[in-house]
Amino acid sequence: MLAKIRSASVVGIDAHVVEVEVDITARGLPHFSMVGLPDLAVKESRDRVRPALKNIGFNFPLKQITVNLAPADLKKEGSAFDLPIAIGIIAAEGVIDSGFLDGYLFTGELSLDGRIKPVRGALSMAILAKGMGLKGLILPKENAPEAAVVSGVDVFGLESLPAVIEFLTSDNGKVALKIEAAQALEENSVYEEDFSEVKGQEHAKRALEVSAAGGHNVLTIGPPGSGKTMLSKRLPTILPGMTFEEALETTRIHSVAGLLKDGQPLLAIRPFRSPHHTISDVALIGGGQVPKPGEVSLAHHGVLFLDELPEFKRNVLEVLRQPLENGEVTVSRAVASITYPASFMLVSAMNPCPCGYLGDPRHQCTCSPGQIHRYRRRVSGPLLDRIDIHIEVPAVPHKELSTDFSGERSETIRDRVVSARNRQLERFRNDKIYCNGQMKARHIKKYCKLKEDAHTLLDNAMHRLGLSARAYMRILKVSRTIADLESAEDIQSHHVSEAIQYRTLDRGVF
Ligand SMILES: Nc1ncnc2c1ncn2[C@@H]1O[C@H](COP(=O)(O)OP(=O)(O)OP(=O)(O)O)[C@@H](O)[C@H]1O
Ligand SMILES: [Mg+2]
Ligand SMILES: [Zn+2]
Repeated sequence: MLAKIRSASVVGIDAHVVEVEVDITARGLPHFSMVGLPDLAVKESRDRVRPALKNIGFNFPLKQITVNLAPADLKKEGSAFDLPIAIGIIAAEGVIDSGFLDGYLFTGELSLDGRIKPVRGALSMAILAKGMGLKGLILPKENAPEAAVVSGVDVFGLESLPAVIEFLTSDNGKVALKIEAAQALEENSVYEEDFSEVKGQEHAKRALEVSAAGGHNVLTIGPPGSGKTMLSKRLPTILPGMTFEEALETTRIHSVAGLLKDGQPLLAIRPFRSPHHTISDVALIGGGQVPKPGEVSLAHHGVLFLDELPEFKRNVLEVLRQPLENGEVTVSRAVASITYPASFMLVSAMNPCPCGYLGDPRHQCTCSPGQIHRYRRRVSGPLLDRIDIHIEVPAVPHKELSTDFSGERSETIRDRVVSARNRQLERFRNDKIYCNGQMKARHIKKYCKLKEDAHTLLDNAMHRLGLSARAYMRILKVSRTIADLESAEDIQSHHVSEAIQYRTLDRGVF
């Protein structure tokens, strides 16, 4: 007999429908084959489905079983077809009526004892099921919350193969999991860190506020232990809260990467990803044998933090160009190319010199000018061109660290950031960009006109510091953001002079 059952395969962050056809005939020698371009994992599925069925007491048919996964040209990976294949076999044997399978989409890996284990990309499958107008999605219990965030499709999280059979054949237990999207967004949007925990560092905090307000990439420069990581980690907490659409997109990526915690419905805080400097280009941008999103995509709508920037390999930093330019990344594979979203703020950190202590009053720097020059040169070039703000993060004196003074809370800073961002949304409503950090030359020309005295000030600074034309553009962009934080229409000289402060590397401060 032939049974057809619906499942899905995830390519990039989109799920595509896969028809699982199971045909069983009594003629010929017992045989269990699979067609439809299955990869190794799908073949292994055969070796899980057989014992799983046996161990729940099902008489595994000693007949000719053919499983076809269609369409054949869609690449299928992963173990998520175990459940639909097992249910297909049961239906093809006539144990359950094929009609019961109608309108459902099935996904789940099986363990040998018949339990259902979580899969990647359940949220994308729920979006697919909704788009197809299906009745429901039957999936592993751990994945149910993320899928249930999608309204308009019924989600049933089940623990085992017998539970699925029971579900399909009886009227009991057909209660879909309901998760209120707005509530999930709110409940999951609390950060563990807060800016009030950072003592002193008023200059660095202000610079991070400016960078958050305009979406400007940042480089922090300071000696070991001065708090660069601590400060950077708190940048997401002052960015505008995630919208539901943003949270859904970021959650999809983490779900596809298999990084969503079991039972977590939504990732509603902006991600902070800090890959080590030994990371490979594939791990950074994504791809691989079984393609997965890379760190740039896991940081989507959040912050990518590159600590010890000069230590990253050049070819690794090179691949950041596309996502920084386009907010997405395309990974080429033998079969097809996959595009993942990758829109993030880049925050990076470095020491002022190889030993770390140049300019630190408490330590002696032991580096030669040649060593310092070589170290700095490693971060020059195209990447540095995309970083608008450089800030110094000096070590905070012990006296200051031991006070119990607590600084402004992230929430207070975020309110100012949000109103500056709102001005930008209004300004750019016809420009297809949404913050000052994204301005190109034509936008800068249009929106960053300087008052006479601001102009003179900038020209003088350019001359005195020998700034490049690129630095000039960066300063204009950042000045625009500083003016926006003050709700000022025009860019004034004090906005410009603050922006010049944020070009540490150009100013040759160290
Ligand atoms: N301004 C500060 N307020 C409160 N604690 C601080 C501050 N600066 C540093 N610390 C403490 O020092 C620790 C080290 O800071 P952090 O790791 O951020 O330094 P870093 O500049 O990133 O150092 P490295 O160059 O070694 O990576 C922090 O975890 C925190 O406990
Ligand atoms: Mg650090
Ligand atoms: Zn040094």
